[in-house]
Amino acid sequence: MDFTIRPVKAGDGAGINELRRMPGVFENILGIPSERIKRNEDFIQSLDENNHQLVATAKTPSGEELIIGCAGLTVYTNPRMRHSGGIGIMVHRDYQNKGVGTALMKALLDIADHWLMLVRVELTVFEDNIRAIHLYEKLGFEKEGLKKMAAIRNGRYANEFLMARIKSAGA
Ligand SMILES: CC(C)(COP(=O)(O)OP(=O)(O)OC[C@H]1O[C@@H](n2cnc3c(N)ncnc32)[C@H](O)[C@@H]1OP(=O)(O)O)[C@@H](O)C(=O)NCCC(=O)NCCS
Repeated sequence: MDFTIRPVKAGDGAGINELRRMPGVFENILGIPSERIKRNEDFIQSLDENNHQLVATAKTPSGEELIIGCAGLTVYTNPRMRHSGGIGIMVHRDYQNKGVGTALMKALLDIADHWLMLVRVELTVFEDNIRAIHLYEKLGFEKEGLKKMAAIRNGRYANEFLMARIKSAGA
């Protein structure tokens, strides 16, 4: 499947909002169906040099650009944590399981490894999100612990794994 990965830009808020509210996505991120486009536009405006936010795009049959995925790496700004960062990712439900998530994660990890030389990259994932856990383990993340009742999902408190990928300096 043809798709392109590029940095997020002003004007992407509506496309990102669409993804964040989409069944098949919002349940597994911390999205909420009432989320407004303004929140997503404000988020884009608020990004700074410690945020590396990418989108994956594909062409619709009529030739328009459609945002089919979004992933971000935030480098922690505390001086004692600047060797580490956190990742979040989502892919449009109609484009899942086609390699888009892998490509987005690899693009972020290339930045983390070769251009920022981060040692630790971490994320959280619901404990039953098997596809996401498979993707993260494939790329070197390991489960570090279980956060019990970490977030609300569909009327219940759900557990999340904390996962991290450690890369020693120069490796
Ligand atoms: C999780 C997510 C980001 C992965 O992106 P994606 O584009 O679907 O992933 P890819 O197609 O690149 O890779 C999926 C991998 O999972 C595997 N997979 C799919 N379903 C699986 C399952 N039920 N069990 C185990 N592995 C599974 C695929 O075979 C593939 O692995 P492979 O490359 O070794 O063959 C995407 O599905 C998504 O956005 N889901 C909803 C939101 C979400 O969960 N975000 C992450 C929050 S932590």
